[in-house]
Amino acid sequence: MRKILAIESSCDETACAIVSEDLNVLSSVVSSQIDVHSSFGGVVPEIASRMHVEAISLVIKQALKEANLEVSDVDAIAYTIGPGLIGCLHIGGIAAKSLAYFYNKPLIGVHHLKGHIFINELIEELKYPLLSLVVSGGHTELVYVKDDMHFEIIGTTHDDAIGESYDKVARLMDLQYPGGPKIDKLAKEGKPHYTLTSPKVDNYDFSFSGLKSSCLQLKQRLDRNNEELVIEDLAYAFQETALKQLINKTKLAIENYDVKQFILAGGVAANSRLRELVQEEIKIPYILPPLKYCTDNATMIALAGFHNLRNNKFADYDSESKASLAIDSSNY
Ligand code: KG4
Ligand code: ZN
Repeated sequence: MRKILAIESSCDETACAIVSEDLNVLSSVVSSQIDVHSSFGGVVPEIASRMHVEAISLVIKQALKEANLEVSDVDAIAYTIGPGLIGCLHIGGIAAKSLAYFYNKPLIGVHHLKGHIFINELIEELKYPLLSLVVSGGHTELVYVKDDMHFEIIGTTHDDAIGESYDKVARLMDLQYPGGPKIDKLAKEGKPHYTLTSPKVDNYDFSFSGLKSSCLQLKQRLDRNNEELVIEDLAYAFQETALKQLINKTKLAIENYDVKQFILAGGVAANSRLRELVQEEIKIPYILPPLKYCTDNATMIALAGFHNLRNNKFADYDSESKASLAIDSSNY
């Protein structure tokens, strides 16, 4: 059974996993920098890169130890080649290239969002063509996946990503980064009390910055009137408005594209209300990713890596990490 050792370092998680081709996760180690970045209100790229340098060899060693394997036992080394913070991507890339060179193993570059999509294989086999809604700190995309090598973005955000807007609205409520899980929790206690506006966008595209401004204006108006802002109610109103946009666009795409399956992907896929809405509103077979693997991890990079391995798509020592990397044109 072939095994891949995978490395993820695109943002604020340093991760290494070893996965076998029958989708058995032999180890999956994630070292999160959240505690450090939360005091700054978001990810500080320079600090993130430095922390990857400190963590990467420890994380790789731990993954090997937990799987009870040596690097020589694995069949390929996969790593996130983009998109992400460039300094952070370089650290994972250098580690992967060093291991591949030293142990003479094939090297596989992986597009980060494909990792988020393929993690769903842990739940169930993917059925093509499928539609994926990829929602994370950096992305909000509707992706038409014709087969495991063909991806087409059919809708994207005109401004903020959904996770980014959760984090920004949370900051406005004096909640620490990452705000998504905190708003998710608060909204459960909230009531439909505030009305927020969200701009309309054409086709399958999204927009969240107007909604963020609407939250800010509400807060300022209440402040001016010496009225108290009920943060549970703001969390509720923001979440319902933002998620309605996601679900409505997804339903429209499902109506117009002939897809066999819908899959949710990315950090915001951990959101309990979004998962509930998918169950209530999506009328075709769907997969919700395992909660543990919604946010960044290296298991997802290994799973996507197997597709590249089987399709003979390899990186080499000259392959450059890319801060922005289109999923549709990417060879990775
Ligand atoms: O996929 P991810 O780990 O990193 C990126 O590739 O961006 O996603 C992180 C994002 C953050 O914006 C975080 O606030 C959001 O996912 N997130 C959530 C929840 N858990 C994480 N957003 C809403 N509800 C959640 N439960
Ligand atoms: Zn991610």
